[in-house]
Amino acid sequence: MKRTTTYGYKNDSKKKYIWISVGVVVILAAAIAVFYYFYQNNENKTAQPAPTESVEEQNSEQEEKTEENESNLMDEGNTTDSNEEQGESEQQITNNGYIEGQPLPTEPTFVEGVLIANKKYPLPSTFAPGESEEARNAFEQMATDARIAGFELVAFSSYRSFEYQDTLYHNYVNRDGQDNADRYSARPGYSEHQTGLAFDIGEKGKEDLWLTEEFGETEAGKWLVENAHKYGFILRYPQGKEEITGYMYESWHFRYLGVDLAGKVKQANVTLEEYLGVE
Ligand code: DAL
Ligand code: ZN
Repeated sequence: MKRTTTYGYKNDSKKKYIWISVGVVVILAAAIAVFYYFYQNNENKTAQPAPTESVEEQNSEQEEKTEENESNLMDEGNTTDSNEEQGESEQQITNNGYIEGQPLPTEPTFVEGVLIANKKYPLPSTFAPGESEEARNAFEQMATDARIAGFELVAFSSYRSFEYQDTLYHNYVNRDGQDNADRYSARPGYSEHQTGLAFDIGEKGKEDLWLTEEFGETEAGKWLVENAHKYGFILRYPQGKEEITGYMYESWHFRYLGVDLAGKVKQANVTLEEYLGVE
């Protein structure tokens, strides 16, 4: 039994050794596994951001790129616009001052609070304010003072509807041809008369001079040029400014602007387009 015991002891010792070895291997394997796990984890962290961050960053990059593209597209749009504008201004010269194909707007244009109607800034066809009461009162005051000075002024045409201007213009085109008519008659939607602020003025008893340049040579015509601004009116289409206003000299056509602005435009000795910087 002792042998057995010895044997048993020897066996026990061998077993112990084996178990220790197995234990060491297991611990080493575990240590390697743990080390490998942490190493991998660390590698992932340094190699790429956490997936959420990555998606967010990609999205934000995508947004930046989209914004960039849109901005480029807008730039291209602007370039196209400015090219179109350039083309338009060339067309204007060949189209009697009008922009070919320009649709009438849905709203009238105010520049520095001033309602503007010309070949570049038309009015909506539905714009129908009627004659301005303020402008009419100013005209009556002016006519009263003109009477004292010896002239009987008559406003023979003021507010015109879109439809009436349409009839007038086409009658003129039929009579004189479009190129001629475009120099003295606005196309429907483009007339200042549609604003209710334009007054065609002549002298009673001298109807033959209405709508003529000669009216500007009469005492009444000269009085108007010198005094109209005191009542808020300006001579709208002066001599030598056809390229700017779009119309030949009209000694009879006055535009109501109010006393303050009319005085400033008169003082500056410029057209309304020049004064507002829209020529
Ligand atoms: N005679 C001006 C230009 C008009 O027709 O409105
Ligand atoms: Zn007129």
